[in-house]
Amino acid sequence: MAPCGLGSPLSLVPWAAALLFVLSVGRALALPEICTQCPGSVQNLSEVAFYCKRTPELTLRARCCLNGEGTILGLDLQNCSLKDPGPNFPQAHTAIIIDLQANPLQGDLVNTFHGFTQLQTLILPQDVNCPGGINAWDTITFYINNQSCEGQRNICNTTEDPEICPENGSCVPDGPGLLQCVCADGFHGYRCMRQGSFPLFMFFGILGSTTLSISILLWGTQRRKAKAS
Ligand SMILES: *[C@@H]1O[C@H](CO)[C@@H](O)[C@H](O)[C@H]1NC(C)=O
Ligand SMILES: *[C@@H]1O[C@H](CO)[C@@H](O)[C@H](O)[C@H]1NC(C)=O
Ligand SMILES: *[C@@H]1O[C@H](CO)[C@@H](O)[C@H](O)[C@H]1NC(C)=O
Ligand SMILES: *[C@@H]1O[C@H](CO)[C@@H](O)[C@H](O)[C@H]1NC(C)=O
Ligand SMILES: *[C@@H]1O[C@H](CO)[C@@H](O)[C@H](O)[C@H]1NC(C)=O
Repeated sequence: MAPCGLGSPLSLVPWAAALLFVLSVGRALALPEICTQCPGSVQNLSEVAFYCKRTPELTLRARCCLNGEGTILGLDLQNCSLKDPGPNFPQAHTAIIIDLQANPLQGDLVNTFHGFTQLQTLILPQDVNCPGGINAWDTITFYINNQSCEGQRNICNTTEDPEICPENGSCVPDGPGLLQCVCADGFHGYRCMRQGSFPLFMFFGILGSTTLSISILLWGTQRRKAKAS
C-alpha cells in the first residue's frame, strides 16, 4: 500500500510553498501588541483617525495607525482604563501622534517616552503633565477633558547649559525633554575622553562574558578615578 501524505520529496514542494505563504501572510497580519492590548479600534472622531485618514498610504488597525511597512505612526489608547502605559508602550516609539486621554494614569510619564523622538502631538488626561515640562514642547493647550502637548522641541537647542555634553561628544535628542550625549567618531569612554576607535562588537564577541564583567568593573573604577581628578 502506498503511504499517504508526504511521500516523495517532490510532493513536499507545494507544502513548503503553502507554509511559506501562510507564514508571510501571518507576518503581514501580525500587529504589535500595543495595538491590541486595549479592545476596540480607533474612534472615527479621534485625532489619530483624522491624522491617519489625511495621509493616503496609512491604515488604521485596531488602536494603531500604521504605514506600509507596519511602523506605528499613530496610537490611540483613549478610554483604556490604563494606570500606566505598560511594558509594550516602547513599541510605539516611532509614533507621530499618541492619544492617552480618558485614562486614570498615575505618576509622571518622565521615562515613558524615552526614544519617542518623532512624537509631535500627545493628548493626555487633564491631570497629567506633558512629559519634559513646558520647555519640551512648543504649545501646551488645556481643554475641559484633556490637554495636548504639541511640537516636540529639540532639548539640545533649548537647554540653558550649552556645555551639557563633553567636548568631544554631541547632544542628540532622545524624546520629550530627554537627551543623550554621543561621543564623536574616534572617541569613547567616560566623557568621551579616550581616543581611538573601540571595536566594541569584536571585543564582546571574542572575549566573552567573564571578561565582560571584569571590564565593566574596571570601567567603573576608572570612571570613579576620572571623576575624582
Ligand atoms: C466611521 O466612519 C466610517 C466611514 O468613514 C463608517 O463606515 C463607520 O460606520 C463609522 N463608525 C462609527 C462608529 O461612526
Ligand atoms: C469609555 O468606554 C466605556 C465603555 O468601556 C463607554 O461606556 C464610555 O462612553 C467611553 N467613554 C468615552 C469618553 O469614550
Ligand atoms: C479634548 O476634550 C474636549 C472637551 O473638553 C473635546 O472637545 C476635544 O475633542 C478633546 N480633544 C481631543 C484631541 O480629543
Ligand atoms: C536644533 O539644532 C539642530 C542642530 O544643532 C538644528 O539642525 C535644528 O534646526 C535646531 N532646531 C531648532 C528648533 O532650533
Ligand atoms: C577632544 O579632541 C581633541 C582633538 O580632536 C583633543 O585635543 C582634546 O583633548 C579632546 N578633548 C577631551 C576633553 O578629551
